[in-house]
Amino acid sequence: MTEAEFVVVANRLPVDRDDDGGWRSSPGGLVAALEPVMRKADGAWVGWPGKADLEIAPFDFDGMRLVPIMLTADDVELYYEGFSNDTIWPLYHDVISAPRYRRAWWDAYIDVNSRFARAAADVAAPGATVWVQDYQLQLVPQMLRELRPDLTIGYFHHIPFPAYGLYSQLPWRKQVLEGLLGADVIGFQRVADAGNFARAVRRQLHLETKASGIRVPQPDGTVRVSLAKAFPISIDADVYIELAQRPEIRERARQIRAELGHPRRILLGVDRLDYTKGIRHRLKAFGELLDDGTVTVTDVTLVQVASPSRERVDAYMQLRDEIELRVGRINGDYDTTGHTAVRYLHQAYPREEMVALYLAADVMLVTALRDGMNLVAKEYVASRVDNRGVLVLSEFAGAADELGSALRINPHDIDGLKQAIVQAIEMPPAEQGRRMRSMRRRVREHDVEKWSREFLRALEKTRAERSKW
Ligand code: G6P
Repeated sequence: MTEAEFVVVANRLPVDRDDDGGWRSSPGGLVAALEPVMRKADGAWVGWPGKADLEIAPFDFDGMRLVPIMLTADDVELYYEGFSNDTIWPLYHDVISAPRYRRAWWDAYIDVNSRFARAAADVAAPGATVWVQDYQLQLVPQMLRELRPDLTIGYFHHIPFPAYGLYSQLPWRKQVLEGLLGADVIGFQRVADAGNFARAVRRQLHLETKASGIRVPQPDGTVRVSLAKAFPISIDADVYIELAQRPEIRERARQIRAELGHPRRILLGVDRLDYTKGIRHRLKAFGELLDDGTVTVTDVTLVQVASPSRERVDAYMQLRDEIELRVGRINGDYDTTGHTAVRYLHQAYPREEMVALYLAADVMLVTALRDGMNLVAKEYVASRVDNRGVLVLSEFAGAADELGSALRINPHDIDGLKQAIVQAIEMPPAEQGRRMRSMRRRVREHDVEKWSREFLRALEKTRAERSKW
């Protein structure tokens, strides 16, 4: 196999195997962000093709070298659904759902992480740069360093890193920190995440931290400095700007409004169906606005795209039932034959359709209870080439640090959320334009290319410093 100078290691490949043996885009913000970076880098991407027991040889796809990792049905259950998505995911999202600590899941996590590390070690050229991604692979940086001390290793954490009081629940809290510290640069979404990590390192491992640097003692008695810093991720803004200008997509946006019966205002939510996204809170607020007569079904429609996610994990099954019950009740109470209160779509759509929805929506609702970044907020802003539309944005999403001109909300405060929705619905065009222009500037200037450039530059710097020792 040809060796690569640049290797991305992520739980998922950028494409998933579908039921007909073809490939389709993988879900989630990580893949959406990294794909454009990878296309330009000409490297290899090590990851899982999204289905159990699939043994596939490395292959080229769309200008990328893909190296599939096989996960058995047990691996999927214990490492992916179990430890990654029923232990780490809820714990790192402020225990919105109760994390479960199972020793067999942890054992599977170690085992699968070591297989990813070995695959990356096999494909990386001498002295290559390897960029490990996200919470499913927190042990890989240190495992890889042990296998290949010649590599420069980066790690980016796409989700929040929790406050120490929560993190310390994790029975394997020391091992996870040691795994991450195998990286030369550990990137986080928000300054607060990097701070939480540094605190956990000080308290659990008693290591010294200074500014962003962490002094990590090595087995040979030397000290290596790892950098833990915020690098807020973004999107390929130009792609959204281009799509939003296409006549057929603009036409599709008009058609969507017509299909919904030309309501005066369209509200939009776009999320994976995940309990971190605050979909229940959003529906509660909208339902109450209908109940108290502040809005009517002929006037305002909420379109909620909730793409299927982690469907075999209990907490996700329960959430789906609750959401669908609530949507059914609201629609039952308020729909007419010509208008619907909530158009609920439990489906995933291609990017073209998403941009048409963004253009059709007067108000975008991002009500996450906790979210690493939330790229949907940035996609909406980038798509509004007409400088119209209002973004209602939770202060618990990483994007709130950058998009200061959004209508900022606390999703737990239902009255506050209702007020923000009304303010958004009634916002005069001039104010929409002023807010949208300033957010658009930020997203265009801080796009995903800049994110990866800054991360990789920091990584490159650690390599240069290492060679001076
Ligand atoms: C988030 C995570 C990603 C994950 C994605 C989709 O964006 O940060 O690591 O890939 O959700 O979730 P899934 O479990 O389907 O990969």
